Amino acid sequence: MPESNIPVLTIDGPSGSGKGTISRAVAARLGWHYLDSGALYRAVGVAAGWADLDLDDAGALVRCAFDTVVGFRDDAGGEPRVLVNGHDATDELRTETAGAAASAIAAIPEVRSALKERQRAFRQAPGLVADGRDMGTVIFPDAGWKVFLTASAEERAERRYKQLKDKGVSVTLDGLLREILARDARDASRAVAPLRPAEDAVRIDTTGQGIEAVVERVLALVPGRAG
Ligand code: C5P
Repeated sequence: MPESNIPVLTIDGPSGSGKGTISRAVAARLGWHYLDSGALYRAVGVAAGWADLDLDDAGALVRCAFDTVVGFRDDAGGEPRVLVNGHDATDELRTETAGAAASAIAAIPEVRSALKERQRAFRQAPGLVADGRDMGTVIFPDAGWKVFLTASAEERAERRYKQLKDKGVSVTLDGLLREILARDARDASRAVAPLRPAEDAVRIDTTGQGIEAVVERVLALVPGRAG
């Protein structure tokens, strides 16, 4: 099948909007592939940290984006794991430090270009659910269905707080809210691929909504969806 005939559903939105959980569930229900594009940016951020690179050294970061090998696989319990240069870095990738590093390197246009083709390669039959910030605007502008998820900053911080606490990471709700607002501001104001809904995206506010209700709303957009 020519690549452009393979269906793509993009799900963009700010951190904590429920993108990851919703996108994974929708991909599973459709039996489609799933791209966690944020994990690629986080992986480059973490690899840059391991190599002690300066977050102001754009040239070194671009080389790092080209060189970092990222692998996705599910463990025996079906939990997604991410390998960075062969090491399981799943837990490190989830930290706010990795999120902040990702957000900083993601503002460098050449880093974004370096990751472009890698993201497009996930478009494989029978279909792809792509989760990120610029999936509908830059990476898959021809996607058949585009969703932009939002939620209030307070609810997004609370979701992250619960997730991180469950993982035993020590954080404060206030600190998380501050970090989320700072990352949103940086993601929305950068010159290249800023966080914004595609003009043809359906906006869904997930504040106060359960996961299943949102999954159903997204699935309802895709004709012939799995039941
Ligand atoms: O989605 P996640 O929180 O894992 O993304 C981490 C960071 O990576 C974001 O704050 C954003 O700066 C960057 N990112 C991006 N474009 C994407 C996905 C993530 O710029 N498509």
